[in-house]
Order: sequence, then C-alpha cells, then structure tokens
Amino acid sequence: MKTLVVGSGAREHAIAAKLETDPEVTEVHAAPGNPGIPESRRHDVAADDVRGLVALAEELGFGPDDLVVIGPEAPLVAGVADRLREAGLSVFGPSKEAARIEGSKAFAKDVMAEAGVLTAHSEGLTAGSSERDISDVLDRFGPRFVVKDDGLAGGKGVVVTEDRQAAREHIEAVLGSGSPVLVESFLAGPELSLFLLVDGETVVPLLPAQDHKRAYDNDEGPNTGGMGAYAPLPWLPDGAVERIVEEVARPVAKELNRRGAPFSGLLYAGLAWGEEGPAVIEFNARFGDPETQAILSLLKTPLGGLLHAVATGRLAEQPPLKWEDGSAVTVVLAAEGYPGRPAKGRPIIGLPEDTDEAYVLHAGTSLDEEGRLVSSGGRVLSAVGRGRDLGEARGRAYRALEPIELQGSFYRRDIGDKAAGIDLS
Ligand code: AMP
Ligand code: GLY
Repeated sequence: MKTLVVGSGAREHAIAAKLETDPEVTEVHAAPGNPGIPESRRHDVAADDVRGLVALAEELGFGPDDLVVIGPEAPLVAGVADRLREAGLSVFGPSKEAARIEGSKAFAKDVMAEAGVLTAHSEGLTAGSSERDISDVLDRFGPRFVVKDDGLAGGKGVVVTEDRQAAREHIEAVLGSGSPVLVESFLAGPELSLFLLVDGETVVPLLPAQDHKRAYDNDEGPNTGGMGAYAPLPWLPDGAVERIVEEVARPVAKELNRRGAPFSGLLYAGLAWGEEGPAVIEFNARFGDPETQAILSLLKTPLGGLLHAVATGRLAEQPPLKWEDGSAVTVVLAAEGYPGRPAKGRPIIGLPEDTDEAYVLHAGTSLDEEGRLVSSGGRVLSAVGRGRDLGEARGRAYRALEPIELQGSFYRRDIGDKAAGIDLS
C-alpha cells in the first residue's frame, strides 16, 4: 500500500512516521510535509491544492488500494476529500458536508441538539447585531463568559473570561473581522480529547488524551493550537470512554448519517468531564495536534491498514485495537511570539538523535538556501516521550528538548504534571 499524507505539521509527521512502521505500507509520501520527512518523499504541493494532489497521486501511481490521509481541517472543510474520492482514490478524511461538524460551530450545536448530546448552551451574534443585542446576550451569561469565533480559527478564536468588558471587546473584534460569534455557558471540569474512528455508524475510540491549550505554565496566557498533551488519562473514571462513545459519538454519527452526511474519518471530541459526565466543548473532523503525537506513539495496530479500512467502509470488520502499556507525552516547542506573531527564519540547532523512548517531530521548520534547519511557524517542534508511566514519559520528552537551541523559543514545563501528581506550587 502506498500512502500520501497531506499537511505539514507535527501531526502529519507523526502519521507519516507511524505509517512507515506498518509492514503493509510500501511508500509514505507527504504533500507538502516538513523537513522531518525524508526529502525524496516530500512533494511541493499545498494541502488545499486539489488539482495538484490529484495529479501527484496519479504520478505516484495511486489506486484504490493505496491511501491518502488528510491531516488539517481547512482542506476537509473545503471539500478536498470529496474531490480526491471522485478521482478514484481511497481517502481518510470526511466529506465537506460531514466536516461542517468542525467548520461551523452553529452546525455542530444543531447536530448535538437533534442527537441529544450534552453541550454548552449558546447564543449567536452576527454583523447585524446592535450594541444592545450584545449587552442583552452578555446579561444572559456569566459570571464566566465564553466567546467564540464561529469559524475556523486554529483553536485561537476563543476567549474565556470573567471580565465582561473583555468579553465584549472580543465579540466586537470577531464581528469586525467578518465572522459570526457564539457566546456560550462555561463548562466546568477537566478537559479531555477523545479521538474516534468513525465509518458511518461504526465508532472505534482511540486512547483518551489531554491537551494543554494555554500558552504558558499553570494554564496562563492566551489560547493556542495546543502546547502539549499526554495519553492515556490516569484520572479518567473506568467506563468513561464507553460513556463518551454511547452518549456522544454514536448519536452524532447517527445524526450525520440521517442528514445524508455520513462521517468517514476521525471525529475529535473535545469534552469537559463534569459532575454529570461528558459535555462537548467542540468537535473537530481530523486528528488533533499535539494529542496525535502522543496517542499514535502508543498504537500497536498497524496504522495504514486501519485508516484504509475506514476509508473504504470496512472499519466494522477490523479486530480490536492494540496499544502499548504505559504513557506518552508530547511537549511543543514554540517560536518567540507564538500564538501572536511567531518569529521565523531563525536557525534550529542541537536536535537529539531519535530513540524508541523519545524523539522529536517537526512542524514549523524549513530548510534555508544553505540547507540549514530554520523555524518557519508558530509551533516549531514536538518532542514525544514514552515510558512505563506518565512521569517517565514526561521526563524523556523534556530531556529530548533540552539540547535544542532556537533563539526566543519556549515550551511549557508542566505538561502532564497535574495528572502525574507532580506539585508545581
Ligand atoms: P475550542 O476552540 O472550542 O476548543 O475552545 C478552545 C478552548 O477554550 C477549549 O479547549 C476550552 O479550554 C475553552 N472553552 C471553549 N468553550 C468552553 C466552554 N463552553 N466552557 C469552558 N471552556 C471552554
Ligand atoms: N489540540 C487541539 C486541536 O487539534 O484542535
């Protein structure tokens, strides 16, 4: 089986690296990929260049027995999976219609309401809303305000605040940028990410993980795309994953099917584990970053065959997934200025040798004219550590980051600490 991974982040590097270990997979290509992937396997085609992707798959001799995996949300929401399927390719990733579960928060709310899935109460505001409308909506929420950009914002469009004025300012800023706004009730409880392989109404959960969305230690600073993650979750009660499958994922998969938009690919449920159990914060229509880097490092089942089974409607026939014992931790090294304006073009030196216990995945990196590795994005690298438990995995991830030098870069020092019982105070 030949494979093509579409996208350029650490998530795509993790998927490509895992596909390499599948004995059924003969070739792993990436479009455009990043310098962590061998240059001979990288193709200079953008993730949203449908024609370029179809031409590339043809050039590489792809047929239905091969596999295209789409990493990021933007091409999915734009319908790239549909177009590749029309060209006769087997694609891991949902249709444009099904990807609306991520592309429009209002659509996701509607699906959840129909499916009876617990989520935050929300109200919408649009460009036509008056100052008075905004005040009226704010009156109905609080003391903690959750204000969201109702479009794709890379995890950075959400402000959670007790400051009514800050909430109003974010509403005005998002409306001013041309996007509608959702104001939501605050969901209490620890957050988790559960990734589910979904093929119509067949649902198979991966290991639960937790992302760390804020930029700085102790969950301070602005929201980011994710600064680190660990899997599995020692604090999650027994039976929790099964409850999420039954109460959240299956009803949503059924509802999408009923609407004529069956989901095929990875459904990412971002949840708050509250006193009454799981409540949905958001859905994504693809693997999450940085959770994927941790989760896939523990997957024993060959990835290519598994994703190909989803892509071709055969998930129900697959044997149960196999996982390594132990834990995995991802720590993201970010560029100075992230998540605002990351500094780019700075040299990166000191990358350690990869081992089975710890390795570094690339994301916002590129090669300059002299072939030196330089930074080119906000989240630059992801270190992954594996171990018998969370403490060991975390120690290995941090040791892999220690020798790396990138001027102005930073990473959180507390990924997984609360769960590992490490007291920061
Ligand atoms: P989202 O882009 O919807 O995942 O939101 C980003 C982050 O904002 C989430 O991971 C949560 O930490 C926080 N958040 C979003 N919505 C809520 C909510 N209704 N209640 C509490 N926290 C939320
Ligand atoms: N880890 C958050 C995301 O992938 O959206």
